[in-house]
Amino acid sequence: MNPLTPVVRSRFEHVPLAVFGSSAEASAAVAREVAALIRSRPRGRPPVVLGLATGSSPVALYRELVRLHREEGLSFANVISFNLDEYYPLPPEHPQSYRYFMRKHLFDHIDIDPANTHLPEGTVPKDGIDAHCRAYEDKIRAAGGIDFQVLGIGRTGHIGFNEPGSPGRSRTRLIALDPLTRRDAAGDFGGEEQTPRHALTMGVRTILEARRVVLMAWGQHKAAIVRAAIEVDVTAQVTASYLQEHDNALFVLDQAAAGSLTRFRAPWLLGPLEEQGLAWDERMTRRAILWLAGKCGKAILKLTDDDYNEAGLQDLLRVHGSAYEANRTGFYQMQHTITGWPGGRDPARTQPGDALARPLRAKSAGLFPKRVLVLSPHPDDDVISMGGTLCRLVDQGHEVHIAYEVSGANAVSDETLWRALLFARDSGLGGDRHAPAVRAWCDTYEATGALPADAALRGWKGLVRRHEATAAARVCGVGPARLHFLDLPFYESAVARGRHTGPEDVAIMRRLLQEVRPHLIYAAGDLDDPHGTHRLCLHVLREAIAQSAGESWVGETELWLYRGAWAEWELDEIDLAVPLSPQEVMRRRRAIFRHETQKDLALFPGGDRREFWQRTEDRSRRMADAYNNLGLAEYEAIEAFKRFSPEEFLRHVAL
Ligand code: F6R
Repeated sequence: MNPLTPVVRSRFEHVPLAVFGSSAEASAAVAREVAALIRSRPRGRPPVVLGLATGSSPVALYRELVRLHREEGLSFANVISFNLDEYYPLPPEHPQSYRYFMRKHLFDHIDIDPANTHLPEGTVPKDGIDAHCRAYEDKIRAAGGIDFQVLGIGRTGHIGFNEPGSPGRSRTRLIALDPLTRRDAAGDFGGEEQTPRHALTMGVRTILEARRVVLMAWGQHKAAIVRAAIEVDVTAQVTASYLQEHDNALFVLDQAAAGSLTRFRAPWLLGPLEEQGLAWDERMTRRAILWLAGKCGKAILKLTDDDYNEAGLQDLLRVHGSAYEANRTGFYQMQHTITGWPGGRDPARTQPGDALARPLRAKSAGLFPKRVLVLSPHPDDDVISMGGTLCRLVDQGHEVHIAYEVSGANAVSDETLWRALLFARDSGLGGDRHAPAVRAWCDTYEATGALPADAALRGWKGLVRRHEATAAARVCGVGPARLHFLDLPFYESAVARGRHTGPEDVAIMRRLLQEVRPHLIYAAGDLDDPHGTHRLCLHVLREAIAQSAGESWVGETELWLYRGAWAEWELDEIDLAVPLSPQEVMRRRRAIFRHETQKDLALFPGGDRREFWQRTEDRSRRMADAYNNLGLAEYEAIEAFKRFSPEEFLRHVAL
């Protein structure tokens, strides 16, 4: 069977797609198709011409191709490759150049003839660009055209670097990068200023001429643009939508990237659920009712039979008998997510009728106080994402530990450290022994605007963040004895994209879990933050929990995932909603303020230029508004979480 078998197209989808449980599985399936193509044309037959992409999306594909070469004898001797694009201007030896990327991830590990690998050149003189681009097209044609084109999709909807507005007839050319694309790349270049403004890219027409095109997209942050490319008509504003005009194109997605497609968001619109192998279970019922409430702009309890009928939810009405009954089901599900006692109540201080532990459900649910472990990938995610809940857990008497998983040194600017060095220099606190080095570093920064790449300096950047985290935790009432700075080694790799976790990371996490033996674990559940650190941290936790199977604490623990600064849970996914008072919102703000280094906007990828405290407040206020609009209760702010048992968690975080 072809491993890339597309799912049956729904009437909402204008292009074939295949959805996999994880990006690793999906990448392996794409690799199998590429390998089959290569094997079908051994030496002596016309070469296989591959069109290749860079970025985070194809990294696992290349890793698998390298494995197939090493372990299963897949030879690239008869392969010619053409990459989609290259930053301009940028020399090939620059660590962020796509030439460098391709060598690192693929070319240096396989038997492809380097002369057969082509990328647009980031060093051609300006007046030679047009000729260079024409020659690139000629070379593709002379090679026989592209057999198999690998694509990613940018958050602007670009394929290659064909930014919004690129015409369908465009060819290889120089293009100005969209501000969002530059912001997404800024982390790799150490800030937006250093990020190139231009690139050379194959055109849309060049891409569409490939005989087979496979676009890969992973992660929730791609879900909206993936939906636009697949479900909205062809438009130059989303250049990936041009693939709808190709007769052999396929979108290969993981579940998160596919999550906004109608087939997943509102499957009842595709037909009866049973016919799709789905059922009106609690979650689906809630999703439909929330969807309907949003669509009608009504509180849940005000939805009528007509509302259900007109929106295509007759089937749900049939199951419940009336809008009244269906509404009650949805309403109580949502209401039961709300609690001001996220760790359960102190039995000594409860009133008759209080739900002691709702919505906790692990064996330890009724236990009080609990050992709580808050995992913060970066040193500020704890307070940004769940600062209010953290304060409540502490105030309500639980034993709260916070573990900071990576040092966060990458997000400290040289300027910040220079100021700390100035303090050491001018106060003399650095001591005589270090004075010459400190002076030299200050001089270097003042002369060049940058500090040397020195391991000690990087370590101190991490220290700056430790101190910020310590001060923020203090605002929340957690003292240094319960803070754990893990400094996971995977984060120290120089290149952000394509990082890997390893056994050392897992061993560190395992030691922590054995030490704390938590009843509740709070962790960042965004599998797709822009640089992948949160995702990798979650994988480390997954492995550590998998290795702890059978230990007594695992049977008593439950996990609560928060979504972080980049995204929020959908309403129908929420299991716990912790309301905050205006005072609690202010206290959380004070805690976030302790992370002063993070005010350096240029360091952050993504299109959102607000500071973290603003994002946090907007997000939690919007969540409170959403609950209010559903007719539940009016709060100042809400922090939301999704629950997992260890077994569910292991299934959820597929490797
Ligand atoms: C890279 C390229 C781009 C990327 C896109 C997604 O050669 O042409 O279109 O595929 O920007 O990037 P990632 O995969 O890093 O999200």
